Amino acid sequence: MEQLDKILNKALQDSSPLDREELGFLLDITDPGQLQKLYRAAYQMKERYIGRRVSLRGLIEISDYCVKDCLYCGIRKSNANVPRFAMTKAEILQAAELGREYGYSSLVLQSGERSDPAFVDFVEDAVRSIREIGDFGITLSCGEQTRETYQRWFDAGAHRYLLRIESSDREFYGTLHPADSLHDWDKRRHCLDLIRETGYQLGTGVMSGLPGQKTSHLVSDLEFFREVDADMIGMGPYLPHHETPMGKLITSFDPEKALETGLKMIAVTRLFLRDVNIASTTALQALSPADGRERGLLAGANVIMPNIGDIAYRRGYQLYENKPNIDENRLETRRKLEESIHAIGETIIHGWGDSPHFAAKQK
Ligand code: 5AD
Repeated sequence: MEQLDKILNKALQDSSPLDREELGFLLDITDPGQLQKLYRAAYQMKERYIGRRVSLRGLIEISDYCVKDCLYCGIRKSNANVPRFAMTKAEILQAAELGREYGYSSLVLQSGERSDPAFVDFVEDAVRSIREIGDFGITLSCGEQTRETYQRWFDAGAHRYLLRIESSDREFYGTLHPADSLHDWDKRRHCLDLIRETGYQLGTGVMSGLPGQKTSHLVSDLEFFREVDADMIGMGPYLPHHETPMGKLITSFDPEKALETGLKMIAVTRLFLRDVNIASTTALQALSPADGRERGLLAGANVIMPNIGDIAYRRGYQLYENKPNIDENRLETRRKLEESIHAIGETIIHGWGDSPHFAAKQK
């Protein structure tokens, strides 16, 4: 316990960052009492830099077509069992309107990766059109693109961009992806520079609990976040998907442990990076539907991205199936989320919720 107290005190009181050994020590904690101490310290850091506040963003998954074949991912190109969809612009705008109704002034547009001209044009047009109907903050999460594309999307009105590095370790990254030029770590790393140089607030992140992943990899991930000077971090536990090459090899999966590792990564990131935005991601919710995201907040996260897009997309099908209660269900879901946020003593922020880390750099 003594070592833990020493490290947490250093994190909270000292201005010098934790070193690799200290970060690794925190990530290796398994004792429930020690875990609580870690989460509480991270929460204290969040209170200091962010307050007891959470930003909600409306997440719109605009398309699941993807040119990539990442070995862990359910929407990889080679998975023929995924129904592929692409929202129309009208559906995206409808989702944005829904977001506005819900009080989300910040939207995230996420998609599988494509870089063909039609897709680039489509995203540019969608971003511009959203900006025309309201003063929305717009985050994009549409993969690796050229400098020109990032610039066009920025000029259209997007101002934050999320691109997870997935793993900061080039060699380990190689075990998660096909060995070809489409899945090149250095190219992905370079994209983070392009995103930053274009003027976006930069978001990145990794998955935790991947097969073969060691604490030292995760420690390197934390150092990587600092090195690229990330403004936002989106991380989540790896969840096996049975229609992927990686998922097929998984024989046992411990959801509790996966959740714990995900929460530890959030907490240690908060202690290490202090003033960045950290998302409590859907993967946490998937592992613990009742309270996964709330536990993320209590471990130091300050952003939640409720999905608002699928409803606009599914509406076509749902109407066909004659289920007029989807909207009611949505309201119900949102009310529950807001209630559970208030129940842990947090306030919902209704502005864009930009990263304080980014704001501090502009001064
Ligand atoms: N489990 C958890 N996260 C995953 N992602 C992709 N596949 C999985 C999976 N099986 C994450 C990746 C990607 C983000 C959109 O989703 O980190 O960047």
